[in-house]
Amino acid sequence: MTNPEKIKASETRITKAVFPNTTNHYATLFGGTALQWMDEAAFITATRFCRQKMVTVCSDRIDFKTPIPAGTFVELVGEVVKVGNTSLTVRVTVFLERMYDEHREKAIEGLFTFVAIDEAMQPVPVRK
Ligand SMILES: CC(C)(COP(=O)(O)OP(=O)(O)OC[C@H]1O[C@@H](n2cnc3c(N)ncnc32)[C@H](O)[C@@H]1OP(=O)(O)O)[C@@H](O)C(=O)NCCC(=O)NCCS
Repeated sequence: MTNPEKIKASETRITKAVFPNTTNHYATLFGGTALQWMDEAAFITATRFCRQKMVTVCSDRIDFKTPIPAGTFVELVGEVVKVGNTSLTVRVTVFLERMYDEHREKAIEGLFTFVAIDEAMQPVPVRK
C-alpha cells in the first residue's frame, strides 16, 4: 500500500502562459510543447515522490481533449497514480484557464511511467 501522504506531498503544479512562441500555425498550443511540459511536470512529481534518479520509460494514452489558444494560461497537475517495483506512473492533467474570466477546463490528460535507476542506469526498487 502506497503512503497517501507521500502521493499528496509529491503532487506538482506548474502554470504557464501560452505565448505565441509555444503555438502552431492554428494559434493553439503546439502538441510537442505540451508533451515536453507534461513530461517535465511528471518527472518532477516522480522525483519528489521517491527522491531517486528516474528516467521516462513510457508515455501512454495522451488525450488532447480541447485546443488551447494563445493568450491563455495552462496549469499542469502531476499526481502519482501507480507505484510498482522499480517503476511508477504519474498522471498529468493540463487545465486551460482564460486570463480575463474564471473559465477553467480540462484540456489534456496523459500517463507517464518512470523507472528508478542506479549509477549504472540499471533499474532499482522505488522507495515507497
Ligand atoms: C528504463 C530502463 C532503465 C528500463 O530497463 P529495462 O531493462 O527495460 O527494465 P525492466 O524490463 O526490468 O523494467 C523495469 C520496470 O519498467 C517497467 N517498464 C518497462 N518498459 C515499460 C513500458 N514500455 N511501459 C511501462 N512500463 C515499462 C517494467 O514493467 C518494470 O516495472 P516494475 O519493476 O515496477 O514491475 C531502460 O529501458 C532505459 O534505459 N530506457 C531509456 C530511458 C530514457 O533514455 N528515457 C528518456 C530520457 S529520461
